Amino acid sequence: MRAADVIERKRNGGEHTPEELEEFVLGYVRDEVTDYQMAAWCMAVYFNGLSGAETFALTDAMIRSGDTLDVGGALGRKVVDKHSTGGVGDKTSIAVGPIVAACGVPLGKMSGRGLGHTGGTLDKLESIPGFRVELSTDEMIEQLRTVGMAIVGQSDRLVPADKKLYALRDVTATVDIQPLIASSIMSKKLAAGADAIVLDVKVGDGAFMKSLDEARSLAQEMIELGRRAGREVTCLLTDMDQPLGSAVGNALEIREALDTVRGEGPADFTELVLDASARLLAYSDLDIDLTEGRHRAEAAVADGSAVAMYDRWIRAQGGDPDPSALPEAPVRVSVPAPRDGVVGRIGALAVGVAALELGAGRRTKTDPIDHAVGILCFAKRGDSVLAGDDLAEIHARDEASAAAGVQAVLDAYTITDEPPPTHGILLDVLS
Ligand code: URA
Repeated sequence: MRAADVIERKRNGGEHTPEELEEFVLGYVRDEVTDYQMAAWCMAVYFNGLSGAETFALTDAMIRSGDTLDVGGALGRKVVDKHSTGGVGDKTSIAVGPIVAACGVPLGKMSGRGLGHTGGTLDKLESIPGFRVELSTDEMIEQLRTVGMAIVGQSDRLVPADKKLYALRDVTATVDIQPLIASSIMSKKLAAGADAIVLDVKVGDGAFMKSLDEARSLAQEMIELGRRAGREVTCLLTDMDQPLGSAVGNALEIREALDTVRGEGPADFTELVLDASARLLAYSDLDIDLTEGRHRAEAAVADGSAVAMYDRWIRAQGGDPDPSALPEAPVRVSVPAPRDGVVGRIGALAVGVAALELGAGRRTKTDPIDHAVGILCFAKRGDSVLAGDDLAEIHARDEASAAAGVQAVLDAYTITDEPPPTHGILLDVLS
């Protein structure tokens, strides 16, 4: 195989064989295919796409680039897993995990770091003092046995092709390409041994999929990849046209996830967490339906068993679960409403970028993260406000970055006279 021939075939709209894709992907992991060749191929895929068969072959090749796990075999249980396509203020796994585990279903998740304006679960968890994300697979399985939940960094041996490709796509404007997102997500879920998977496909301004049609198409592609591999997949299509919940930024999001596990979270985030938890429980080996799953998820929040599980989980990974241990930003400035009216829109992308500028995310792969900074969006779409009310609050390292944050968040809000059309967080469910 000559890498240039593979790139040329896709550039000219041709179709790859599974063997060719496998050689290309494995060659990339072995450094025989260079970053610039892989980047050129990704851009050719942006323009010419991949067929269903090619996407399946790519996913398969990515899985073969490393080890696979059999967590279910080790635990003697059916394994359920969840994954989000990425959004602004998305701390869903941190709240869903303890709820599902408190209901008796082990949840072991391998998570990633932030990508572009979207935050990463590992970065959020690392704002908890002492929390260790680098657990070996054996440690993760042992923790699942003894505690019932674990969220860890993706092992270097699991889908190494995705690790390398993901970092390359991030800096070559090739993230938002449907077959590449589908194969990236599904290769990790399939390699990690999930029997049933709930995927949260974010839709809107703050997501990689901007329209419901694009999100449906990505969802269908991931469901098909799961079907071909013999796994059950449900996709929740959820609103990312405004930040999820109120908090954007690492430690702020941990606080909000904990509030939600305690039953004191914002309405939109709580609804998503309970719905995703119910679906994972209905997929599990508890042999219950969705209604009973919802009932048990709500009960775990109400009776405190979910928050007790959060405590045990965080301690098991070396962290301090007390929210007062989380870092706090030295400067807090409110963002006042410029006039009376209704919040018509909050640009999720703009809020995500504003948080990144405050230091909550990375511009380059090696940038350090400031875990304390971020934004609390108090007013959400459809809320009535009076001039001077707090729309949001900026948590910053210094006055200058706070002032820039206030302006950016003010620009992200649109205050209108008429209330915008309302809809819930869940836009569609496909399976
Ligand atoms: N999440 C992933 O895991 N991969 C992508 O390509 C995009 C979002």
